[in-house]
Amino acid sequence: MKLIDYGVREDEKKYIQEWSKDNDVEVKIVTDLLTPETVKMAQGYDGIIAYQQLPYDEKIFDTMNEYGIHVISLRNVGVDNVPFEALKRNEIRLTNVPSYSPEAIAEYSVTGLMMLLRNMKNMVRKVDQHDFRWVPDIGHELNQLTVGVAGTGRIGRAAIKIYQGFGAKVIAFDKFHNPEIEKEGLYVDSLDTLLKESDVVTLHIPSLGKGHTVINKDSISEMKDNAIVVNTARGDLINTKDLYDAVVTGKLYGAVMDVYENEVGIFNTDLTDTEFSDELLEKVIQSPRFILTPHIAFYTTKAVKNMATISLNSMVAELKNGTSENEINLDK
Ligand code: COI
Repeated sequence: MKLIDYGVREDEKKYIQEWSKDNDVEVKIVTDLLTPETVKMAQGYDGIIAYQQLPYDEKIFDTMNEYGIHVISLRNVGVDNVPFEALKRNEIRLTNVPSYSPEAIAEYSVTGLMMLLRNMKNMVRKVDQHDFRWVPDIGHELNQLTVGVAGTGRIGRAAIKIYQGFGAKVIAFDKFHNPEIEKEGLYVDSLDTLLKESDVVTLHIPSLGKGHTVINKDSISEMKDNAIVVNTARGDLINTKDLYDAVVTGKLYGAVMDVYENEVGIFNTDLTDTEFSDELLEKVIQSPRFILTPHIAFYTTKAVKNMATISLNSMVAELKNGTSENEINLDK
């Protein structure tokens, strides 16, 4: 069996190399992203593993079919950049890594929130300038707040535990009820109720598709005054302009944004010597009421190792058994 792994970062290489040695399977490591051009390197291989934020071009899958490659395994969870129709047309199966570390993302939600509640961005900026005054950066305590967890999949459930550990009152919403959360009586009847009753709303749901936001002018008007939004999920869940306006006008306290609707091509890129043309993002970066990070909630050693190895294990299962526990249903 010969596999090829695309878009591999420096920090991922050692996990792939270790796996290759332990499993005695050849894995070619490629740093380029998977494109209609680079897919040509896959000729002669049995399966493709990849991770990238850019959309996967349909032509990639026509070429895979031509080369007799019928499985692609992603090293991440989100499949919103994969054209399912092109996969189906070419009889290509797809796997993802649905659970590489729910705790990594859940912990990051509270990390960002604590930074915001204790005005850490402003404090650190002040101290950097040798301004050691306290006022006006008085903090707020999480144990006094109601945290609304939107989405009770693995990440949402890990977040619930952590927020409860801090003594916050937790409420939750999901279309599908988890029996444990149900037993605890945390569910409210709708997302609207969650938004209305929460001091902090933390999003743990997938993208709803282009133009379908959860946080926008209308929903913000229903939220509590001074509420906080935490987004470690997908940027397109939020209308960033509406969120920014709500914070600037004082309706909301602030927000934690680890994802951004236009992040592709910006996040995980060094733009220090490039003129920055995203004015809205620049305003967010400058505001002390926004904690903005470049999609790093997942970025821990545990998660990166799991992403590298679970995707390879899924590929092996697909090639040996024709399926795997992480295969995505392309008809859903
Ligand atoms: C995903 O797994 O889909 C993520 O959002 C994390 C990604 C940046 C690797």
